[in-house]
Amino acid sequence: MFKEKIGSDEQYKYWNESVSYWLKYDNEINKKFNNITQTLFSNLSFSNAKYILDVGCGSGYTTKIISDKIKGFGSVLGMDLSAPMLALLNKKYKSIKNISTIHSDVQNYKFKEKSFDIVISRFGLMFFANPQLAFNNLNKSIKKGGILSFVCWTDYQYNDFFSIPVKVLSSVTGLKKNRLTRNPGPFAFSNKNYIYKILQNSNFKKIKIKTIKTKLIAENITKDLNIFMKIGIAAKMMRENNINKITKKKIKLKLNNYLIRNIYNNAGSYKAKVFLVRAIK
Ligand SMILES: C[S@@+](CC[C@H](N)C(=O)[O-])C[C@H]1O[C@@H](n2cnc3c(N)ncnc32)[C@H](O)[C@@H]1O
Repeated sequence: MFKEKIGSDEQYKYWNESVSYWLKYDNEINKKFNNITQTLFSNLSFSNAKYILDVGCGSGYTTKIISDKIKGFGSVLGMDLSAPMLALLNKKYKSIKNISTIHSDVQNYKFKEKSFDIVISRFGLMFFANPQLAFNNLNKSIKKGGILSFVCWTDYQYNDFFSIPVKVLSSVTGLKKNRLTRNPGPFAFSNKNYIYKILQNSNFKKIKIKTIKTKLIAENITKDLNIFMKIGIAAKMMRENNINKITKKKIKLKLNNYLIRNIYNNAGSYKAKVFLVRAIK
């Protein structure tokens, strides 16, 4: 753990001990998020950017995109709480000179003040025990006039990736999804006003939060099923409620039938809704 750790132990534990499926399905997850990645980058110009921070960079898909965009004149730092995710990033991109990484907690890492031109994140900013502290810290690390830009999930009911597995899990087990809270997790930032307030309190200006309706790619049902059984809220509910093997099998079978009917033979993709957030220091 880190010297000045203030993050939640639960998050540290999860991102360091339970990410084997994130690692295994790294390619699939990045493919799935392709439209969202494009949305995030469509919002930004890197032409004068010398130093970029990718927050909660995970296995580095977006870090590599940034590295390509600033090759020859800039460098990118990927920071993440997860040692295994960073190990994968470093394995994939170890020969790339303008990428560096730090294994730390963004909430309390002592960044050099006013050092970044752009701070960016794809789904890496919703896991803070103390979001205000994290955004204050990020604000200090950005140069005057620098940009913060990130994507985060809106309410889970607008996101098939999360809502379909929960629906099927509930129909098999009777378990009900708890109401959304602001606790660290994928939906901590699913309220626009809450994001706005945190950014305003940490002195960001010109805050813009766009709601983007988009789609996640559905390409391989076997891999999707494996992902849904291990990653996301339904998977968390199964872990927390100690769902046994036989029940898991039933859930997986029903999920398979649901996906065939509603996604693979019908929509062809998962509907999704995210916030694209942009602010200036
Ligand atoms: C949903 S994953 C997204 C990873 C990556 N940005 C992507 O799009 O593939 C969230 C990431 O945030 C990281 N994270 C969570 N809390 C963090 C913190 N306090 N400081 C740094 N990274 C954190 C996790 O370890 C994880 O890699």
